[in-house]
Amino acid sequence: MLKIDLKGKIAFIAGIADDQGYGFAIARSLAAAGATIIVGTWVPLMRIFTTNLANGKFDASRQLPDGSLMEIAKIYPLDASFDTMDDVPEEIKQNKRYKDFDAYTISDVAKAISNDYGKIDIFIHSLANGPEVIKPLLETSRKGYLAALSASSYSMVSLLAHLGPHMNAGGAALSLTYIASERAIPGYGGGMSSAKAALESDTRTLAWEAGQKWDIRVCTISAGVWGSRAARAIGITDQMIEYTIANAPLEHTFHPQDVGNTAAFLMSPLAAAITGVTLYVDNGMHAMGIALDSPAFNPAETELANVEL
Ligand code: NAI
Repeated sequence: MLKIDLKGKIAFIAGIADDQGYGFAIARSLAAAGATIIVGTWVPLMRIFTTNLANGKFDASRQLPDGSLMEIAKIYPLDASFDTMDDVPEEIKQNKRYKDFDAYTISDVAKAISNDYGKIDIFIHSLANGPEVIKPLLETSRKGYLAALSASSYSMVSLLAHLGPHMNAGGAALSLTYIASERAIPGYGGGMSSAKAALESDTRTLAWEAGQKWDIRVCTISAGVWGSRAARAIGITDQMIEYTIANAPLEHTFHPQDVGNTAAFLMSPLAAAITGVTLYVDNGMHAMGIALDSPAFNPAETELANVEL
């Protein structure tokens, strides 16, 4: 039987702070395939995440198909907007949610992972941050735009650059992108659409460079809309989900585990020849050119919507 087998593999997932997002769903699928899970959690959410985890708040979501609970072997505090502690402004270092931690930049986390595990096999980038995401691009400040690029795109470049030397040959890396990179999605502002375009372009270049340098594959999944904590900050998530249900080729409910399971395949030896791709996991929404729930296609008045397929 053909099987996704990640036994003995170590997977680092950057961008988990609750059980609602894609990072957690990917962790579950990788764990179900046998991988050891280690996590990077944004510093301000570190305490709440570790407390909730310890108190059993995520136990239902941690359940794996064999009935056991997904274990998270280690959680590293991470702020992926910074490469070294010298880059961190004093006011952030002194912030009450940061001051109890002393080493949380990308270079610190890569070093800690290498000290703890030697080499890892899988790296997942499931994080994004756009402080002005609710502003249209035309109203986005330079600072907000660059912050979106820094946290959401350059973080992938830097994390891979720092983790690559600590990854086994044959390993793989994955990020999460969104179709606003290539189509106008009003509401996804603040430079986040630009950040996703950069992330997808970098996926191809990183695939070439990391493939040549370390024999590591690099892919990105363009995921459908899901009401994670980050997505809810945008404000139109529920409407986007309804729109997808009304217009996507596949009508069955889209779930983060669809992304998790695709990630497990992509990170497994079954995908050994796949790198540099943007893979849509969105019930096919990306393939549509028109929205059939538009009033222009009122089924009573048009033949198009009544076509027998
Ligand atoms: P999420 O809220 O579960 O994940 C985002 C994570 O990024 C959070 O844990 C947050 O704490 C972390 N984060 C923010 N700034 C950070 C920083 N500077 N350093 C380290 N961590 C930081 O939300 P979601 O939606 O699962 O997001 C995961 C990825 O999926 C993101 O790249 C997002 O753009 C992408 N995506 C999400 C879609 C959706 O509809 N939810 C659709 C397509 C892509």
